[in-house]
Amino acid sequence: MTSIAIVFHSGYGHTQVVAEAVAAGAAQVPGAQVHLVPADQAEAKADVLNGADAIIFGSPTYMGSASAKFKEFMEWSSKTWYGRGWADKVAAGFTVSASQSGDKLAVLQQLSVFAAQHGMIWVGLDLLPGNNNSKGSVEDLNRLGSFLGVMAQANADQGPEGVTEADKKTAAHLGKRVAEAAARWTK
Ligand SMILES: Cc1cc2nc3c(=O)[nH]c(=O)nc-3n(C[C@H](O)[C@H](O)[C@H](O)COP(=O)(O)O)c2cc1C
Repeated sequence: MTSIAIVFHSGYGHTQVVAEAVAAGAAQVPGAQVHLVPADQAEAKADVLNGADAIIFGSPTYMGSASAKFKEFMEWSSKTWYGRGWADKVAAGFTVSASQSGDKLAVLQQLSVFAAQHGMIWVGLDLLPGNNNSKGSVEDLNRLGSFLGVMAQANADQGPEGVTEADKKTAAHLGKRVAEAAARWTK
């Protein structure tokens, strides 16, 4: 059994949809047990996080940064950091913003540095960039061309239904990849 936790914050539901897609992808891997943990419940679910083989972090991009609520979770984890509680767990990340860029890379960088501070093993996205040539389309996986983690984009005037199928599939791909990596890592 491989335990995968997905810690996320979502102010308006977009990041939650992506988190659920990551979870669905991870759950495809035989033996994977997947836990969705809203960031504000991390303290109550600390046992789930401490017992996980992999933790995937998800935050919306707010003002070119992880959201304040996600940062609360990051800072809450400092006691665990001090005790090296998450060291050697597999990690990955995703973010959602309204603009095509929206400075999402800054958030993935924050999440990967956070994982490195914890001594975790960061897993990036292995998909080639989509939608970057004359035959490409917005329906391509990895349509925003990210390697550090999943970038998703949702229109500012739409609710959670605005998260595209391509982005959900990209998120599911990352979830599956992390669950497979965690299974190999914990052998
Ligand atoms: C306070 C705030 C700041 C935001 N900053 C950005 C930003 O820097 N770049 C961007 O493209 N979108 C920005 N947005 C839009 C959100 O990233 C976008 O709506 C995202 O899908 C929200 O995810 P959520 O529904 O999970 O909260 C911002 C939204 C809010 C509320």
